[in-house]
Amino acid sequence: MGSGVCGLLIWVLSILCLMCVSQGFDPVDNYLIDCGSPTDTPVGNRVFMTDNSHSNTLSTPQNIFANISSKSISSPLDLALYQTARVLNGNSRYNFSIKQHGRHLVRLHFFPFVDKNYNLSEAKFSVSAQTFTLLRDYQPQSVPVVKEYSLNITSDNLVLSFIPSADSFAFLNALEVFSLPRDLVPDGAEVIDPPGKYQNLRTQALETVLRVNMGNQTVFPQNDTLWRHWLSDDTFLKHKNLVKFVSNLSSVNYTRGWPNQDIAPSSVYGTATRLDSQHNPGTIANVTWLFDLDSGFDYLIRFHFCDIVSRSPKQLFFNVYFNSWFVARDLDLSNLTSNILGAPYYLDAIVRLRNSGQINISVGPSDVYNAYPDAILNGLEVMKISNSRHSLDTIDSLASSSKKKVWVIGGSAAGALFIILILALVFFLVFRSRRQAHVDHSTQDDFTMNGGESFQQNKQSRGTSIFSRPKNGYRIPFVAVQEATDNFSESLVIGIGGFGKVYKGVLSDEAKVAVKRGVSQSQQGLAEFQTEIEMLSQFCHRHLVSLIGYCNEKNEMIIIYEYMEKGTLKNHLYGSELPKLNWRQRLEICIGSARGLHYLHTGPAKAIIHRDVKSANILLDENLMAKVGDFGLSKAGPEIDQTHVSTAVKGSFGYLDPEYLTTQQLTEKSDVYSFGVVMLEVLSGRPVIDPSLPREMVNLVDLAMELQKKGELEKIVDPHIMSEIKPESLRRFGETAEKCLAEHGHDRPAMGAVLWNLEYALHLQGNVIRHSPNSELSKHQWETSVSTTQYSMGSMGDLADVSMGRVFSQMVKAEMM
Ligand SMILES: *[C@@H]1O[C@H](CO)[C@@H](O)[C@H](O)[C@H]1NC(C)=O
Ligand SMILES: *[C@@H]1O[C@H](CO)[C@@H](O)[C@H](O)[C@H]1NC(C)=O
Ligand SMILES: *[C@@H]1O[C@H](CO)[C@@H](O)[C@H](O)[C@H]1NC(C)=O
Ligand SMILES: *[C@@H]1O[C@H](CO)[C@@H](O)[C@H](O)[C@H]1NC(C)=O
Ligand SMILES: *[C@@H]1O[C@H](CO)[C@@H](O)[C@H](O)[C@H]1NC(C)=O
Ligand SMILES: *[C@@H]1O[C@H](CO)[C@@H](O)[C@H](O)[C@H]1NC(C)=O
Ligand SMILES: *[C@@H]1O[C@H](CO)[C@@H](O)[C@H](O)[C@H]1NC(C)=O
Ligand SMILES: *[C@@H]1O[C@H](CO)[C@@H](O)[C@H](O)[C@H]1NC(C)=O
Ligand SMILES: *[C@@H]1O[C@H](CO)[C@@H](O)[C@H](O)[C@H]1NC(C)=O
Ligand SMILES: *[C@@H]1O[C@H](CO)[C@@H](O)[C@H](O)[C@H]1NC(C)=O
Ligand SMILES: *[C@@H]1O[C@H](CO)[C@@H](O)[C@H](O)[C@H]1NC(C)=O
Repeated sequence: MGSGVCGLLIWVLSILCLMCVSQGFDPVDNYLIDCGSPTDTPVGNRVFMTDNSHSNTLSTPQNIFANISSKSISSPLDLALYQTARVLNGNSRYNFSIKQHGRHLVRLHFFPFVDKNYNLSEAKFSVSAQTFTLLRDYQPQSVPVVKEYSLNITSDNLVLSFIPSADSFAFLNALEVFSLPRDLVPDGAEVIDPPGKYQNLRTQALETVLRVNMGNQTVFPQNDTLWRHWLSDDTFLKHKNLVKFVSNLSSVNYTRGWPNQDIAPSSVYGTATRLDSQHNPGTIANVTWLFDLDSGFDYLIRFHFCDIVSRSPKQLFFNVYFNSWFVARDLDLSNLTSNILGAPYYLDAIVRLRNSGQINISVGPSDVYNAYPDAILNGLEVMKISNSRHSLDTIDSLASSSKKKVWVIGGSAAGALFIILILALVFFLVFRSRRQAHVDHSTQDDFTMNGGESFQQNKQSRGTSIFSRPKNGYRIPFVAVQEATDNFSESLVIGIGGFGKVYKGVLSDEAKVAVKRGVSQSQQGLAEFQTEIEMLSQFCHRHLVSLIGYCNEKNEMIIIYEYMEKGTLKNHLYGSELPKLNWRQRLEICIGSARGLHYLHTGPAKAIIHRDVKSANILLDENLMAKVGDFGLSKAGPEIDQTHVSTAVKGSFGYLDPEYLTTQQLTEKSDVYSFGVVMLEVLSGRPVIDPSLPREMVNLVDLAMELQKKGELEKIVDPHIMSEIKPESLRRFGETAEKCLAEHGHDRPAMGAVLWNLEYALHLQGNVIRHSPNSELSKHQWETSVSTTQYSMGSMGDLADVSMGRVFSQMVKAEMM
């Protein structure tokens, strides 16, 4: 009797439970907009609101609506949402108030049709949400596209900005913003390749780039509680003849409570692609799907499983692979789901795609004794994770810049020449417009890189705006900077200099940053601020400090860089209590910074001259890897300068190229000179100018060059490294420094040759030091490493492993003044 009541109760409860499940998810925040539509539009069980009446969520310079005119070529579908659009012909933003903090889904619908007045295919624009760049210079193709993102909103507003690219406009057909169920996106996951743990996922923006239902069945939004679209997997299968598609929706059993229908609906868990070993007897093979992703990003991959094929537990064991890495070995679903067959299960993994965007996902039989060769997969989702630049767009990916570079190098000479000419023109315009702006003393107009704030294009500085566009993605709101630095707390100051103070900070995604806040409102301060952002945003190299963002709200001049744990090279050489670096570490730091400078000189567009190379501008990360920082004085050269001899000689006293001082002709060789000075500091562990010493020893360069001529350079070697430094290594180092310090630029080597010589000095130091065995190269290894160095200098293979979110401390210029 009692068990009967109990059974009834369970039955009632499970019916109730089924009912509440089938009701679907009811988001707290729920904004659905059918842009440009004169009426509300029902789609499935939801209603998209018209935005023709006044909209208090959108601010845009002008209300422009577009609709598919009857003359229009054709609309491939009659889907209601794609009949109308809103054209945004200036910077616009949606500002949604958020009732429930946490992850929200943002879906943007684009279908470029031809309207009476606008050909939407000609649109080109960028989209950002909070501090994240979702799309940059995006041009929708002529098919309906749905872009889906998720962001963790921790403020009371979600701001979505649309920024048209130069001479273009933006548009949008429909928009969805709604709260996601808690725990849909994990806080972290295991990283495969290289294995490890990924934290901080909760603060990143994600973009869904793939959502696939296995079993050759498409799942449409109306069959998904979160209105997701799942593609059928057959087009991704590598060998279709090896698989069997299976389906049994009624066997999916959600009674364990997790994962629930919001993770994936039964139409996903109830179908699968299975290894067909019955029809291929004797073949033990993997089922493999091939996908193309954008390289240069990290991805969260979710594998959905549900055993809809076994008759009883412990019948199905299989392996899951990403490329050739194990995601799971001998997976036993019944064990993981308390022996409930048909209970859904999922696995999350994170992968880092650095060089290639091609991936393969496989499931295959396990070696468990007596296991029948079988394997299934029910669904797969791939989400791109925003990078350290808070971006999801390939333009901002690390790999894309390296690809482009390879193309320039490998491409036809004519193409390269053309690009060089265009870049030269851009530089010319930039500098010309800067000069004009200076003449006008129009501080505000000079500085139009903000783009986001003013709705009017500034005519005067069009040249600058060509350059400024990509930087919108780096803008960080002042409040975020205040938050990161505890409102510029004095206790967080890590450096003070002519420009202002440098603070240590922590961004909301827990990335440590260095925040340089300018105080001076002078033209020069502003120009240096601008130059630094322009320069930094163009390049990306493991030996150059990277830009995280900037802020120019409220006349602030704030630059946010990666935080460099170990501070400046200078501090490690003298004037501090820090432990002394050994000779090998010093050489490696020289090599790293030489690589950075070599990249600048031969780098992204055309030669960039740093102009302020000194030990205080070489920063060290936690592994003592060197990065060149502070690009406030940097310049493109030397051609530009021949048309424009600068009147003010800039740089730091003691490091200045004497030839530049007299001729004011700036070339890369001025950096080489300054680098030679740094090499001497590294060797001697003393400042370039030390007034406390006897007169003939005050100037390090004069002293060292005199000793070098006499063959007595060891007299200035830092006593801390005297015993370990090998004479051959010292000789090579000394000769290289001497060449760098040659009186005339044309006698100095290029940075590439300096780099080569430093590598050689490291090689000569060779086997002496026991505690870094990795660098003990055999002659053969050394030769191979040199040849790969030279290769990668050309192809800039260095870009491939630029680390994310790694960060720094920036000391300030003019310390030697
Ligand atoms: C489409 O736009 C034109 C103006 O561009 C307007 O006259 C017409 O009523 C619109 N049609 C619909 C169905 O909104
Ligand atoms: C968004 O709206 C809120 C008020 O609802 C306002 O405080 C906030 O400044 C707005 N943000 C932007 C970027 O417009
Ligand atoms: C619209 O623009 C696209 C891209 O520029 C072009 O290919 C197409 O021919 C244009 N269509 C019309 C009708 O002008
Ligand atoms: C969103 O971020 C906040 C602050 O970092 C964190 O406490 C919260 O758990 C996150 N929420 C989600 C759903 O990731
Ligand atoms: C998948 O299903 C489609 C029809 O929905 C069919 O045309 C196609 O051949 C199937 N693919 C395979 C590999 O069987
Ligand atoms: C999808 O939804 C439609 C109606 O919304 C329903 O008729 C159909 O059975 C559903 N399909 C699946 C696979 O659940
Ligand atoms: C579907 O699964 C249920 C429960 O596991 C089972 O009873 C039924 O026979 C299956 N249907 C098919 C067609 O295999
Ligand atoms: C789901 O599994 C539970 C536990 O094994 C079982 O009691 C229940 O009958 C199953 N439900 C369905 C619909 O198969
Ligand atoms: C399945 O793929 C993995 C990883 O690529 C490989 O190690 C394994 O040998 C493959 N198994 C079969 C049966 O081909
Ligand atoms: C999967 O990818 C890895 C690495 O990209 C490659 O070496 C391997 O050959 C691929 N395997 C298959 C089965 O395509
Ligand atoms: C799963 O496997 C572990 C280790 O083999 C075992 O201890 C546990 O009892 C199993 N759980 C179930 C539900 O079979």
